[in-house]
Amino acid sequence: MTTPPLEPLPGAGTAPTPPSLFDAVGGREGVRRVVERFYALVEADALLRPIFPADLSAGREKQVLFFEQWLGGEPHYSERYGHPRLRRRHFPFVIDERAAGRWLALFTRAMREHDVPESAVARILEGLGPLAHHMVNANDDIPREPLGDARLT
Ligand code: HEM
Repeated sequence: MTTPPLEPLPGAGTAPTPPSLFDAVGGREGVRRVVERFYALVEADALLRPIFPADLSAGREKQVLFFEQWLGGEPHYSERYGHPRLRRRHFPFVIDERAAGRWLALFTRAMREHDVPESAVARILEGLGPLAHHMVNANDDIPREPLGDARLT
């Protein structure tokens, strides 16, 4: 009996597979450049700067790991810190709608300044837009104590 020919991959020979968002941002180095630029913009922003801790370095490194993972790279963030549970992790910071809008504007600017293709920016914002507004907690009665490097499940 002869072996049947392998099925072609779905879509093979029709349309090119779009690059993953991680690749579109430029892989690990690209993610790092965007997050570092985002942090420089936060540092200079009168609305967001006071919400962030005095020392930005540890948070910046966590964001690099998080975005690598979120965009389809290696899951180093969760290996170290457990489940992202982002809304919970943001409880210590009082975030209103205006701050969420500014956060998104600065992240978008950082991506554009690093030449992330517009098609990828649009796909990323489809996810980040709702996520940023989900972080709004200014009027919520929630625990505000710092979580630090806690591993969440
Ligand atoms: C799409 C929306 C957002 C994402 C994906 C995101 C992501 C993250 C991540 C991964 C961390 C590190 C968490 C940890 O492990 O401790 C973090 C921390 C933080 N985020 Fe966000 N965030 C978002 C929205 C916001 C907004 C709207 C604000 C408002 C200003 C904000 C302010 C902060 C602050 C102050 C920290 C702590 C930084 C530190 O500890 O140094 N985030 N965020």
